[in-house]
Amino acid sequence: MLAEELIVAKRELATNGFLDIELDPALDLFQEIERLKKEKNAILLAHYYQEPDIQDVADYIGDSLGLAQQAEKTTADMIVFAGVHFMAETAKILNPGKKVVIPDLKAGCSLSDSCPPPLFKKFKEQHPGHVVVSYINCSAGIKALSDVICTSSNAKAVVESFPRDQKIIFAPDKNLGAYINKVTGRNMVLWNGACMVHEIFSLEKITKLKVRHPNAKLIAHPECEDPILRIADYIGSTTGLLKYTQTDSSQEYIVATETGILHQMMKANPGKTFIPAPPDNSCACNDCPHMKRNTLEKIYLCMEYETPEITMDEELRLAARKPIDRMLEISKKAGL
Ligand code: 13P
Ligand code: SF4
Repeated sequence: MLAEELIVAKRELATNGFLDIELDPALDLFQEIERLKKEKNAILLAHYYQEPDIQDVADYIGDSLGLAQQAEKTTADMIVFAGVHFMAETAKILNPGKKVVIPDLKAGCSLSDSCPPPLFKKFKEQHPGHVVVSYINCSAGIKALSDVICTSSNAKAVVESFPRDQKIIFAPDKNLGAYINKVTGRNMVLWNGACMVHEIFSLEKITKLKVRHPNAKLIAHPECEDPILRIADYIGSTTGLLKYTQTDSSQEYIVATETGILHQMMKANPGKTFIPAPPDNSCACNDCPHMKRNTLEKIYLCMEYETPEITMDEELRLAARKPIDRMLEISKKAGL
């Protein structure tokens, strides 16, 4: 087989998620990724839920809003997205002319999957006169059916951009929706979706932890269920939680979100203690199986072979772009 044919064959395998190339164990993946970034004018964007090694080699680490804002303004030719599919898809919606690659095409999201566009379209038809606010954790198909997108850091500002009497459908996360209803005094209709990571925290185990660590503050992501949020000392997006640990004077925190964020919390606060909130199963902490599909090896391979690539129908992209632009504008006005 010619070298070029081999590359094409490997590309096909990788696109289908079957690339299983034996990498030389002596290969310095950090160095190789840095080399590929320069050679290909690529930017590596990573979510806080990625493993520490990936966070350490990323050009930007952030929450969903920060990542979308970086994707919007980058001048790189290739965006390498170390996150899940809806995040890379959002980057592609904002950058039709750039190549967007994701280390593992199978890195999905239970929350996004809980809201299939055909069912949501029917749900929308059953609620005439409502506008649709969708959490960014959804497919391009749902975005295209929405009036505006939000993330956990701007959901309040986005919802409050509508008059108080405006009827609103909020999708797909019922927990974030219920939390925003509470803080805004609205009565949005909620789609019945949830995140598999945030809905399995154990109230009983967290309560016991609080007894054992009386000075620890409980900080929680708004994707958590109401009983957890009720006893939290602070509720916020991943960036919000991280910033809180940097400005608050406590020395100990119980962290109710995916454990990846602890890496940045520990880096930013060397003297403080961070305890992952336990889930309602036999594990001590709570990882997102989708986020954790990405590895340093897969990042290197997807940069080298420029695949798997995110592609999208142009009509769908244009329809999905409008509500994202509206979100970015509201965030800018709100200084977020
Ligand atoms: P944020 O990064 O916006 O806080 O969202 C968390 C999350 O679950 C992303 O999948
Ligand atoms: Fe989806 Fe939850 Fe994983 Fe985020 S943590 S990607 S919302 S399953």
